[in-house]
Amino acid sequence: MFEERFGTAPAGTWSAPGRVNLIGEHTDYNDGFVLPFAIQHRTHVALRIRDDGVIRVASTFDDETVELGLDDLTDVFPARRDEVAEWARYPLGVAWALRELAGEQAGSLTGVDLAFASNVPVGAGLSSSAAIEGATAVALAETWALDLDRTVLARAGRTAENEAVGAPTGIMDQMASMLGRADAATFLDCRSLEVEVVDLGFAAAGLEIVVIDTGVSHSHATGGYGERRAACERGAALMGVSALRDLGVDDLPRAAELMDDVTFRRVRHVVTENQRVIDTVRLLREAGPAAIGDLLVASHGSMRDDFEISVPELDTAVEAALSAGAVGARMTGGGFGGAAIALVAHDRVKQVTDAATAAFEASGFSAPTIFTVAPSDGAHRD
Ligand code: GLA
Repeated sequence: MFEERFGTAPAGTWSAPGRVNLIGEHTDYNDGFVLPFAIQHRTHVALRIRDDGVIRVASTFDDETVELGLDDLTDVFPARRDEVAEWARYPLGVAWALRELAGEQAGSLTGVDLAFASNVPVGAGLSSSAAIEGATAVALAETWALDLDRTVLARAGRTAENEAVGAPTGIMDQMASMLGRADAATFLDCRSLEVEVVDLGFAAAGLEIVVIDTGVSHSHATGGYGERRAACERGAALMGVSALRDLGVDDLPRAAELMDDVTFRRVRHVVTENQRVIDTVRLLREAGPAAIGDLLVASHGSMRDDFEISVPELDTAVEAALSAGAVGARMTGGGFGGAAIALVAHDRVKQVTDAATAAFEASGFSAPTIFTVAPSDGAHRD
């Protein structure tokens, strides 16, 4: 594709993965805990240096090639972002964020041609956007010889997402894509950005993670996601803390007295979910992955009833998986659509797949897309 679009061969290719979140949903922007892992689906970018200050991006998402002067990035983002094709806001937003971080070098950065191809399902809640951002960040940081660590690159991705795209998301997806490790999850403290690698040992335990993509697409740039975030901030303010991370389950009775029922349930989800992440990490270490099923199920119930971000298709996927013998199941990602994950014994994957497919058919939903994912390495040069 690079040769077709740009008429010459690239200098190299880089890639970054999507992710599933094992547990810890809507906790990241509350300074809390998350436990995602990178998956084998990746976005690849081919890059060639130009001898001018122009950046061009092409992708399999669109026939159009988008071109901007590097010096123009600061005028375009964030004020005039609507003038840029939507998919191109992700890579160009990362270029803008990195250029801002480049300090004195900003004026002398070389132009680049970039071509993207991805097999991360879009709109499935598997962070196709973090994969584009991560691939762009590692490719540009190396090409521009910027001395930035992976946490800073992840933050550049989140800046692109927040400011260049306009989705008020947290840091989880970018950190998972940047720091993923095969066979392990990334236990992230979203306040300090400290990371611990937690071995998952799915294969040794004879377990698989099955993704049930409902096909219900969602956008976090509009509507429910931002509303949930605002409710969390309201709840934290009423409790006199800077973020819900500062509350524990013991604080919930007082919260119930101080706020309306909806805000309280939003708060209760976040507070109990943080505890579930900590409990999951402990159980993984002490007892292995077969022990975490109940926590996954409790997480889903909390998102369905307290945070109210599930949809009937996700509930159906979770119930079908559990009834077919999954160890645990929950929706993953921001909600309002996207995918559910199920932790399933290797020899039950077919039953779970068949049960979910049949349940969708019986409910009159479009057929889900079902596949297994493996915890994989994060962003790198290919
Ligand atoms: C989306 C966001 C993340 C996180 C999740 C919910 O994936 O991009 O930052 O908030 O939703 O856990």
